[in-house]
Amino acid sequence: MNLPKPTDNQLNVLLSKARRIIAYCGRRGGKTHFLKYKALERAVNYPNSDILYVAPTYRQAKELFWYPFKSIVPIEYISKKNESSLKIEFINGSIVRVYGGRNYDSMRGLGLDLALVDETSDQNEELYREVLNPALADRKGSIVLAGTPKGFDWVYDLKDNDEWEFYSWTTLEGGLVDKEEVERAKLELDPKTFRQEYEASFENYSGIIFHAFSDENVIERHFKSGLPTTLTYDFNVNPMSILVIQEDQGKHYVVKEFQLGDSNTEAATLRAVQYLKENNHSGIIYVTGDSTGNNRSTIGSPGKTNYTIIREILQSNGFNPEIYTPRVKSKEDAFNLTNGAFKNYKGEMKLFIDKNCNYLIKNLKRVTREDYDKKDPKGVTHIVDALTYYPHAYLKNNRNRISVD
Ligand SMILES: Nc1ncnc2c1ncn2[C@@H]1O[C@H](COP(=O)(O)OP(=O)(O)OP(=O)(O)O)[C@@H](O)[C@H]1O
Ligand SMILES: [Mg+2]
Repeated sequence: MNLPKPTDNQLNVLLSKARRIIAYCGRRGGKTHFLKYKALERAVNYPNSDILYVAPTYRQAKELFWYPFKSIVPIEYISKKNESSLKIEFINGSIVRVYGGRNYDSMRGLGLDLALVDETSDQNEELYREVLNPALADRKGSIVLAGTPKGFDWVYDLKDNDEWEFYSWTTLEGGLVDKEEVERAKLELDPKTFRQEYEASFENYSGIIFHAFSDENVIERHFKSGLPTTLTYDFNVNPMSILVIQEDQGKHYVVKEFQLGDSNTEAATLRAVQYLKENNHSGIIYVTGDSTGNNRSTIGSPGKTNYTIIREILQSNGFNPEIYTPRVKSKEDAFNLTNGAFKNYKGEMKLFIDKNCNYLIKNLKRVTREDYDKKDPKGVTHIVDALTYYPHAYLKNNRNRISVD
């Protein structure tokens, strides 16, 4: 069989007879591979087994599991392979099905002997409760939830339950990644992200998004004329948020916040212009915000985009703005980069906030993952969103800027 030997940790879980297993490990710890061993072992040793593998998306399921799995199953074991429904039928009657978890309604009605869930903390609890649990009930099937921690989520709640057997190991303990590579990650990530991703730690993550932000980042800092100055926007009507950020010798200072109720891009920009003039700012000004700034405005100036409006107002007041939107891969990415700017693993700090920016400071301290997941019922994400566009556009050697004409 075309398979490497399982590592000690993988073998340990593989030998477990428990019906409910959580295997939560550091990145590259060998989780997905373990699920392949598990699927194969069940399919081959127990004829007529119905086995399901679920990754968060169909595409991930195909890339992480389907392609590598079908290549390790010896051809003489296979009776049928269906590339479009991602299903392998074995000659002994076992079936392995591969699904994307977002589409969990399509799994209803299955009867399963083994469910293998990958990247579980990126999956919906309903997938487990409403679909997999009932699917396993009839045949007294088993389930493995594999993944890397993401704070105190539903998997965290399950792991201390007596019905579950919990296995965990760090990236280094997994033995599949060099020590040097793990050391390198320490320099790129803030301490909490490192512990979570490489040490599989649930402990130190409270759900607060800006966990690297502390009172050390809050200082007294006033606008200084002549420094490179950025206006970052969150385009929302109520509240509309703008931050004024200045760069000085490699450090970045939020010197002013505007959090305006029932406003629009025009009115808010006029407030910012008034502020720049009061502070005698001359020269270049940068503008950034999310790509919705490129949408046509319906209020105030129909037909124009938010960025056109901003450019016109700044120009008619003697400023010549350069406008960028950040190339954001994911919200998560923007949060990590902002946290890294507050403080990285080496203890370096790049981003500071004037103590008078009360809304920003208050919301940085309390915005949680849930506020984002639940579409911000408390209205606390806008001003911090305005901040997260900045590191992307300005701290990553400008590689992540998209110019707005
Ligand atoms: N027992 C093994 N022997 C040799 N190589 C292995 C073994 N298990 C896994 N690998 C290899 O190590 C790498 C990481 O394994 P795997 O993808 O299973 O880890 P993971 O924990 O799922 O990673 P991620 O956090 O990226 O999802 C892969 O390249 C895989 O092929
Ligand atoms: Mg994996």
